[in-house]
Amino acid sequence: MSVQISLCLLPLLFLSFSSLFFFNVSSLCLNDQKSSLLAFKNDLKFDASLSTKLVGWNQSVECCDWGGVTCNESGHVIGLDLRYENINGGVSSSHLKGLNKLQFLNLGYNLLTGNLPKSLFTLQSIQDINLSNNRLSGQIKLDNVTSYQLRNLDLSSNIFEGEIPSFVFKLPNISTLTLSGNKFSGNVELDMFGKFKELYALDLSYNDLTVNVNANNPSSFSLLTQLNTLKLASCKLKQIPDLKNHSKLLMIDLSVNELSGEIPNWIWEVGNGYLRFLNFSNNMFSGLQKPYTFPFLLDVLDLHSNNLKGDIPIPPRRVYILDYSNNKFGTSIPVDFGNVLRSTLYFSVSNCKLVGVIPESIRNASSLRTLDLSRNVLTGPIPLIGNMKDLKTLDLSVNMLSGKIPEQLTNLTSLSFLNVSFNHLSGKIPEKFQTFTELSFEGNKGLCGPPLKKSC
Ligand SMILES: *[C@@H]1O[C@H](CO)[C@@H](O)[C@H](O)[C@H]1NC(C)=O
Ligand SMILES: *[C@@H]1O[C@H](CO)[C@@H](O)[C@H](O)[C@H]1NC(C)=O
Ligand SMILES: *[C@@H]1O[C@H](CO)[C@@H](O)[C@H](O)[C@H]1NC(C)=O
Ligand SMILES: *[C@@H]1O[C@H](CO)[C@@H](O)[C@H](O)[C@H]1NC(C)=O
Ligand SMILES: *[C@@H]1O[C@H](CO)[C@@H](O)[C@H](O)[C@H]1NC(C)=O
Ligand SMILES: *[C@@H]1O[C@H](CO)[C@@H](O)[C@H](O)[C@H]1NC(C)=O
Ligand SMILES: *[C@@H]1O[C@H](CO)[C@@H](O)[C@H](O)[C@H]1NC(C)=O
Ligand SMILES: *[C@@H]1O[C@H](CO)[C@@H](O)[C@H](O)[C@H]1NC(C)=O
Ligand SMILES: *[C@@H]1O[C@H](CO)[C@@H](O)[C@H](O)[C@H]1NC(C)=O
Ligand SMILES: *[C@@H]1O[C@H](CO)[C@@H](O)[C@H](O)[C@H]1NC(C)=O
Repeated sequence: MSVQISLCLLPLLFLSFSSLFFFNVSSLCLNDQKSSLLAFKNDLKFDASLSTKLVGWNQSVECCDWGGVTCNESGHVIGLDLRYENINGGVSSSHLKGLNKLQFLNLGYNLLTGNLPKSLFTLQSIQDINLSNNRLSGQIKLDNVTSYQLRNLDLSSNIFEGEIPSFVFKLPNISTLTLSGNKFSGNVELDMFGKFKELYALDLSYNDLTVNVNANNPSSFSLLTQLNTLKLASCKLKQIPDLKNHSKLLMIDLSVNELSGEIPNWIWEVGNGYLRFLNFSNNMFSGLQKPYTFPFLLDVLDLHSNNLKGDIPIPPRRVYILDYSNNKFGTSIPVDFGNVLRSTLYFSVSNCKLVGVIPESIRNASSLRTLDLSRNVLTGPIPLIGNMKDLKTLDLSVNMLSGKIPEQLTNLTSLSFLNVSFNHLSGKIPEKFQTFTELSFEGNKGLCGPPLKKSC
């Protein structure tokens, strides 16, 4: 017994020793680093009333303990995390020089304006630069990059324009490149990224880019064996890149493109069967190539707004988010469908031309928070789903459902949105549902009682 206890305490002891150790270390603030930081701060414009870190940078505290500052063991500043500091205006170059040991810099979610602060890219040790969610703008012309160790570059959600800056293609060790949500334009050959052997994540989504895929094998893009995340939403893609050899790819977003035909069945084997996230929504896919087996670990499957026809694909059992809405299946929901949705939180097949009844098995999808079967041609009664204790949104509107609203539904204690409008329902609305408005029940000739004006 006593042996067990001391074994349990061991990690705790270790933890407290190491935090003691780090505490001592953090007092090692080098004078030149401190003055560089203070000069950097004086150069920045920020709203002191909204700042939580910069505002507290002052002489009475050791600089390695300042908010957002990370020092290494000999007191050099190696990291600055100044997200959400309400910094506005530009970043001037003069005082960054003193911070030339900097490895990580995050200025995300500020109000930076002007062009890309070029001096950041001459810091010799810099590995991570994150300028996401600012108001930086203009074309990026950077011919003097010396930060060849750069691994992670995030320029997303700014107003940059022009072509994808050529300097990024000169960064041999780039691992994460996030350029989404800008106004970059022009044609981009996906193969140009094929030389980044270390590339882990690429996000070019939501620009004005046209991304071209090399149809001929071998494509150099398929040599990116480390790739984990590929996001090319809204890139005018006409073809799915060849991803067969990307054995570590877990997350694919090719939504809002011009992809058509069948979804090839090899896609489900990407990542050696470990694919977790697939978003092919807002394309023109007509179906899924058979035979197909969804990867077991897939937990987000978004195929909404395509032209999918025929049988509704049976999802893998772990799926959390399943969006099949705005398609043209024209079939009925398989009898056992609810039994595979036991861990699903979000399920929508709205506007899919579905016919037939809602299967009773749906009550086994008891983790659901959103169930949207609206805008189909579903018939029969509303199923007894009073057991879905987390259900917040239930939309069954614009169908041909008949019978009464089951009293059991009032058991849905989390329900905050209900819509059964435009069906063929009849009878008295359960009293507990009087908290919803008329708009939840309109267009059912046989329904009566409050909140409707028609009395029973
Ligand atoms: C220095 O910053 C600390 C918080 O980091 C604050 O409590 C203190 O009042 C500041 N001192 C001065 C002189 O501004
Ligand atoms: C801290 O960083 C500086 C500059 O990169 C380096 O010279 C020094 O060796 C580092 N110290 C430790 C303990 O890693
Ligand atoms: C950049 O910072 C933002 C804000 O914290 C974060 O959401 C984003 O993931 C970061 N980018 C990278 C590539 O780590
Ligand atoms: C490039 O940077 C070096 C050192 O920072 C500087 O001396 C040189 O003038 C710069 N060249 C251009 C074209 O800006
Ligand atoms: C790129 O990474 C490799 C391996 O980590 C390293 O040896 C090399 O020095 C890096 N290149 C640059 C320019 O930083
Ligand atoms: C994909 O990998 C296989 C075997 O690992 C290899 O034979 C093939 O050439 C690779 N394809 C491409 C396009 O690189
Ligand atoms: C899939 O992409 C669409 C369009 O880009 C987006 O609106 C949707 O939220 C994405 N789905 C998921 C589950 O992230
Ligand atoms: C619901 O799940 C249980 C097992 O948990 C099963 O016995 C039952 O048949 C399922 N209900 C329907 C209607 O499929
Ligand atoms: C209604 O909810 C109660 C308590 O959560 C539960 O015991 C009961 O079985 C539920 N009734 C139905 C019909 O689901
Ligand atoms: C329910 O759906 C109908 C038809 O789309 C719509 O007119 C009505 O406003 C919706 N009700 C609510 C509460 O959103």
